[in-house]
Amino acid sequence: MCGIVGYIGDKKVVPILIDGLKRLEYRGYDSAGLAVLEQGRMVVHRSVGKIKELESAVWGANLTGTVGLGHTRWATHGRPTEENAHPHTDCTGDLVVVHNGIIENYLALKEKLIAEGHAFRSETDTEVIAHLIEKYLKEDPDIERATRRALNDLTGAYAIGVLWKGDPGRIVGARCQSPLVVGLGEGDFFFASDIPAILSHTRNVLFLNDGEMVVLTREGAHVTTLNGETVQRPVEKVLWSPILAEKGGYKHFMLKEIYEQPRAVRDTIRGRFSEESATIFVEGMEQLEEHLAAIDKIILIACGTAWHAGLVGKFMIEELARVPAEVDYSSEFRYRDLVVGDRTLVLAISQSGETLDTLAGIKEAQLRDCHTAAICNVVGSSLTREVEGVLYTHAGPEIGVAASKTFTAQLAALYLFALYLGQKRGTLNAERVRALLADLVRLPQQIEHVLHLDAETERLAQQYHAKTDFLYLGRGINYPIALEGALKLKEISYIHAEGYPAGEMKHGPIALITEEMPVVILAPQDKVYEKIRGNIQEVKARDGIVIAVCSEGDTELPGKVDHALVVPRTSHLLAPVLLAIPMQLLAYHVAVRKGCDVDQPRNLAKSVTVE
Ligand code: AGP
Repeated sequence: MCGIVGYIGDKKVVPILIDGLKRLEYRGYDSAGLAVLEQGRMVVHRSVGKIKELESAVWGANLTGTVGLGHTRWATHGRPTEENAHPHTDCTGDLVVVHNGIIENYLALKEKLIAEGHAFRSETDTEVIAHLIEKYLKEDPDIERATRRALNDLTGAYAIGVLWKGDPGRIVGARCQSPLVVGLGEGDFFFASDIPAILSHTRNVLFLNDGEMVVLTREGAHVTTLNGETVQRPVEKVLWSPILAEKGGYKHFMLKEIYEQPRAVRDTIRGRFSEESATIFVEGMEQLEEHLAAIDKIILIACGTAWHAGLVGKFMIEELARVPAEVDYSSEFRYRDLVVGDRTLVLAISQSGETLDTLAGIKEAQLRDCHTAAICNVVGSSLTREVEGVLYTHAGPEIGVAASKTFTAQLAALYLFALYLGQKRGTLNAERVRALLADLVRLPQQIEHVLHLDAETERLAQQYHAKTDFLYLGRGINYPIALEGALKLKEISYIHAEGYPAGEMKHGPIALITEEMPVVILAPQDKVYEKIRGNIQEVKARDGIVIAVCSEGDTELPGKVDHALVVPRTSHLLAPVLLAIPMQLLAYHVAVRKGCDVDQPRNLAKSVTVE
């Protein structure tokens, strides 16, 4: 997830771009850049790090141009370096492009353009767009038509800004599955990835739909489809405060990120499989590929929520790839007297890629000749530079300290990895792969559906936020979600909560049950459903309060529990993704009810870089 800003008008563009990028920093901050048309010259500045680095770089340049583009990056393809920072240019340097999204077919396009003589400077998917437009400009020197032709060659997600020295009176924006909002000022016009970048200049905005382009001149904004038909978009008035706007209108970043999960999962799986050919492409694992057939054990190491993802991943890997998988806390793994070797794959899971215990675990693994890989959300983070293979989640920056979208993105990535491993080891035939992929493709839409439980979980929070103890129960692949639900509640509402395998009730926890204790039980209609129903009866027999998460169409359970949260049916391997959502929402609303600092809970840090 990156942030783009474009401006054309009568004011100096640099301060407008810098201010706009600062307000989009929550969308990504590993590098930034801007381009200005300065007295007929295209001037481009790019820098690694936060926007303030870019601000320092341009300060002395005394740029007075009044049209330009800016970009703040969250790396998905290509490390966070100056060469990979946006804006990207064509061969001449006279055309610049900024982009937010993922171009799925960029490698094929890049090869073709190189064969036609284009010289590339970066590892990014974005640079392909600049060379495509350059190619079409040579045939027809009109920036709008050339951009339209280039966009019709792309598959994937984009919100782009384009500026060409050959037409200084226009900037072009366009979107497909990534947001772009247009700001209508007094004689000056803007576009940006999100409202905060525009709000201090104008509250009059219009939102582009997928497949639409906008051409901004100093006279106005003209919106068309990719086929060139003019579109009338209503002008809307934004009434948000700048702070509220940065959270997309949500009260907290955590709630915004809970709602971003359909996109986070969609972006994580995007371009990584073909249902038609029943194949999985996991770029970033090439170095490991030749060793995968010989691997006889996988050890997943992680901390906190990522460790819960590892527990789910164990089920996926063992069922789909038929490889024994262990899961270990990184902080335990690194001190264990390990029985591992060159037929062991140690797979680290970490959203930040900076968790010290996980980094140390990988180093221990490497000392023992293990192969190593990572599932990570931050391109170029320390962990990704240590291991042989990386499967990135594309959840975008997660600002809330409590993990939400990065967790479900990790589960989606683990599912893809298990499919990829199964395919490499010959344990999955094409028919099975197609069925498993069909379940995955449905997932983002099903997550959208589960988010409708928001109001219901808020009502539960109103009823139970004063309780001092919660118990979370689950079985099998959903036991890790009981652990995750308990962790979410603990870390943001400070209420004591425990996750337990439901089958363990009789071995101790049942002594805790009273009419004061809410017990959250994950009860999808899977192969252990009857066992879970027995556990629910045990709790009810002791006057416990049962909040059950059930499958759509379950006519039995809802009448036998105090509260039923209903989620769509999916494969047992993907049920944890859907069950995690009500856990996140319940913890969020309890914490809000208790007046806790949801985004920055006490004593916690987003990334634990110490022991
Ligand atoms: C989860 O909500 C917490 N923020 C914490 O447990 C986190 O999952 C853990 O510190 C691991 O972080 P990582 O994924 O960045 O390695």
